[in-house]
Amino acid sequence: MKIKVWAEEIARRHLEPEAIRRTYDRYARVYDGIFGPVLNPGRRRAVAAAERLPGRRILEVGVGTGLSLPLYKSSRVVGIDVSDKMLERARRRVARLGLTHVEDLRVMDAEQMAFPSHAFDAMVLMHVASVVPHPDRLMAEVRRVLRPGGEAIVLNHFWTGRGPMSLVERALAPASNTIGFRPMSLDELISVTPLAFVSEEPVNLFGYWSLVRFRRD
Ligand SMILES: C[S@@+](CC[C@H](N)C(=O)[O-])C[C@H]1O[C@@H](n2cnc3c(N)ncnc32)[C@H](O)[C@@H]1O
Repeated sequence: MKIKVWAEEIARRHLEPEAIRRTYDRYARVYDGIFGPVLNPGRRRAVAAAERLPGRRILEVGVGTGLSLPLYKSSRVVGIDVSDKMLERARRRVARLGLTHVEDLRVMDAEQMAFPSHAFDAMVLMHVASVVPHPDRLMAEVRRVLRPGGEAIVLNHFWTGRGPMSLVERALAPASNTIGFRPMSLDELISVTPLAFVSEEPVNLFGYWSLVRFRRD
């Protein structure tokens, strides 16, 4: 337990907003090749979970290159990201595929959103909770911007402190700014989230990622 707290503390100290933006600016060109098809089953499940909810205006936080945008069937979607280079790719995808359901793609820090309160029916956060420097600020903003009764669908890999991959992740923790994420456990996310935890289900290869639902009262 002490080791887990220590690793999380080291990782947190090493995530800085400007470094994260630069890292994803650099990833933009190769991102789809590395993180595209392999993570798509989870993206499909996350989008389907959001579209099963009542209401049709969805905010995708950390939308990146927009890999998920063609998956929405019945919603209007707004996407935000801190990396202009990632968003540039998303914009090109929207234009190329004629995705008219995408309302807007904006450079915006998810820890300080420029949207009014209760602006969205649902929010989707894929592979972003362990990327921001302050997950508590992120989740406080998610609560503010979500309408009462709305849900946040979080897709992420969560650190378990068990197995060989956890050792690798702990070894990588000091390089969090360079690799663009840090280890985060589901307990840590739940503890900083001012929303009710609804469910967790394993997704993607070996169930190594989780789809987590939170509801706003
Ligand atoms: C691992 S990528 C995930 C991209 C996409 N959601 C996906 O599933 O492929 C994380 C994304 O979060 C963005 N990001 C990091 N910090 C952010 C912040 N504070 N606000 C908004 N986006 C952020 C990064 O620029 C990057 O595009």
